[in-house]
Amino acid sequence: MSGHSTYEPKSRFAKWWDERLPIARTVNDQLVDFPTPRNLNYLWTFGGILTFCLVVQLLTGIVLAMHFQPSAAEAFNSVEHIRRDVNYGWLIRNIHAVGASMFFFAVYIHIFRGLYYGSYKAPREVLWILGVFILLAMMATAFIGYSLVWGQMSFWAVTVITNLFSSLDGIIPGVGTAIVQWMWGGYSVSGVTLNRFFSLHYLLPFVICGLVGLHLWALHVAGQNNPTGLDVKSKADTLPMTPYAVSKDAVGLGFFLILFAWFVFYVPDYLGDAVNYVEANPLVTPPHIVPEWYFLPFYAILRAIPSKLGGVIAMFAAIAVLVFIPWLDTSRVRSTKYRPIYRWFFWLFAFTCLALGYLGSKPAEGVYVMWAQIFTAYYFIHFLLVMPIVGLIETPTQMPRSIAESVLGKGSGGGMPAGAAASPEKR
Ligand code: HEM
Repeated sequence: MSGHSTYEPKSRFAKWWDERLPIARTVNDQLVDFPTPRNLNYLWTFGGILTFCLVVQLLTGIVLAMHFQPSAAEAFNSVEHIRRDVNYGWLIRNIHAVGASMFFFAVYIHIFRGLYYGSYKAPREVLWILGVFILLAMMATAFIGYSLVWGQMSFWAVTVITNLFSSLDGIIPGVGTAIVQWMWGGYSVSGVTLNRFFSLHYLLPFVICGLVGLHLWALHVAGQNNPTGLDVKSKADTLPMTPYAVSKDAVGLGFFLILFAWFVFYVPDYLGDAVNYVEANPLVTPPHIVPEWYFLPFYAILRAIPSKLGGVIAMFAAIAVLVFIPWLDTSRVRSTKYRPIYRWFFWLFAFTCLALGYLGSKPAEGVYVMWAQIFTAYYFIHFLLVMPIVGLIETPTQMPRSIAESVLGKGSGGGMPAGAAASPEKR
């Protein structure tokens, strides 16, 4: 995709270095002169925003770990100590806690962008699947990190969610319970659990960094998709990443930072749960145990199924199914923009996810359960039936002939008749 290198060392030392370790050449070819489609919209700034979020979480997390005490007796108070006594501790803690939510907000937009523009389709399947693994690692990290606060909600959320593995007893008796006790390091969630979760919470972000490295590598092999979903065919279709895509990323990041700062400075606790300001008490269960907002759709799926094992399988299947969508989507075109039927289903799916999120925050009773079951059913129907069937029967609308034409207008080449878009971008 990047073609031959355009880098030319400016000094004798740079040339000497370049022949031994071509860092400057790699940066130039992958981040400066890298050809990016000229029609990228602001939804393509979220990859950069996510990279920023990852760095922020790492840096603030490392400072928090210097003051945090991973023991059942001290964890809760050490977080309060950070907020009240440590210099700028309130700021670092708020950035880390709000940052987790902002990270998920950005990743969900990033995923829906990929779904809308068909960025998971060939040749980007591996890029997409690496993304799904990143999502899983992010979820594990956030879940474990939440437990460290040792408040009532985080303690009980950990108890409930880790306990889910005991449902495996239904398949092989004893195995589920053994796994749960192995994770806990005892017969209940305790200081031992907290200590190992702290260790894992420090480790997993570095696993995410490794996965992101592979994700970006795969991106630079396949090249970026774009709002038309068409392949890059000529030089006219692209612009160098710097300054064009990079300056757009900077504007996107600027707006994102305004939202981020608003939460950090004005409503840092808005996205959290008030119950978590009560220290964990293994003898008192909160009336409603709810996870953080970014887990709510999956929590709704878990509770929609009347059997515990079934709920657990459905919840994990809701993420696992994402791995297969490059093959479940049979459409000849990538971008939903040119898919008149699928477009409606896409928005129905987006609504389904929001509805599941709302239902996950409600008690699992009466009408809430019924609606959660209906939306859970559509969640899977969307991937397993709608994607394969609509892709086969739908006739795409007229597409521009090239990326350049979509930006510069008809002058740069004729349009394509409706329905004649048969795999223009398929490799
Ligand atoms: C830490 C989390 C992540 C980071 C830092 C990250 C980073 C990036 C970056 C920098 C790009 C290029 C810019 C852009 O297209 O926005 C990108 C593209 C992409 N990412 Fe991610 N990503 C993350 C998570 C995910 C997840 C969870 C998925 C899907 C499940 C995903 C799927 C994709 C796809 C399909 C593309 C190519 C998009 C296209 O060119 O149209 N990413 N990612």
